[in-house]
Amino acid sequence: MFDDDAEEIPLLGGDVTVGLVRVGRTVRRPPAERAEMVRDLLRHLESVGFTGAPRYLGVDSAGREVLTYIEGEVAGRPRPAWIADEDRMLSVAHLVRAYHDAVVGFGIPDNLPAPIEPAGLPDLDDPPELVGHQDITPENLVFRDGRAYALIDFDLARPVSRARELVNLMLWWGPFGAEEDLDPLLRNLDSPRRCRLIADAYGLSEPDRHRLMPLAEALNERAWHTMKHRAETLGGGWARMWSEGVGNVITNRQHWLAKNADTIATALLA
Ligand SMILES: Nc1ncnc2c1ncn2[C@@H]1O[C@H](COP(=O)(O)OP(=O)(O)O)[C@@H](O)[C@H]1O
Ligand SMILES: [Mg+2]
Repeated sequence: MFDDDAEEIPLLGGDVTVGLVRVGRTVRRPPAERAEMVRDLLRHLESVGFTGAPRYLGVDSAGREVLTYIEGEVAGRPRPAWIADEDRMLSVAHLVRAYHDAVVGFGIPDNLPAPIEPAGLPDLDDPPELVGHQDITPENLVFRDGRAYALIDFDLARPVSRARELVNLMLWWGPFGAEEDLDPLLRNLDSPRRCRLIADAYGLSEPDRHRLMPLAEALNERAWHTMKHRAETLGGGWARMWSEGVGNVITNRQHWLAKNADTIATALLA
């Protein structure tokens, strides 16, 4: 049923999940932090006919989650030549919108295990509206025929506001960051214009456009603490990312945001 006779091919290129393999038309994942919620989420997406996410097929004899393998192109490293293409970027914003339209009926599950983050983070005053993907990196999207076709890797999915999800989308596809930390193909882009195009393609509300950049700055500040905490408590890929300097990238991005937030906010509202 699960293509169990096929060869196990390691899937590399992600940052965190150890032991991820492709087996025939499936992938096998060791269950993550919020595996039950992700299972229910993927089942919900299937029930409403959303095709832009893997299907949850069950658990194999080794206790791994079995999901469908989605054929297509993933923009891993080195980045493909098209990574900065505006049509690609717009297709990602459209896919995120379609995902939100599909996920909103899932509601906000209660009794979720607390996210792994340090105690004492300031309250964001940002009530959740839906379960966001929250990790919309090039590695977590499958493209087909030049368009974003599916989101994969729902490990960081959590209840968030639409504005918070758009911060994550713009972080990767705007992108937000100091030039020297960006992939060479993503340098010298017109981020304000791109963020505006993303907001329009998504259909972001005016109140959300107003609060987006202050939220981006608050979230980036938190990200430094959260990444450090995850590196210290979870080790693995988190510790590797920290030792490779992700903390500095976040700090540089904080300076970049302080310098560019007003211009981007103006573009979002113009
Ligand atoms: N369902 C899937 N369909 C197609 N490719 C996948 C799927 N799941 C994972 N992959 C591939 O494996 C890589 C790593 O998987 P991912 O789930 O993102 O792991 P990590 O948690 O380490 O980021 C992805 O970037 C993608 O190339
Ligand atoms: Mg991933």
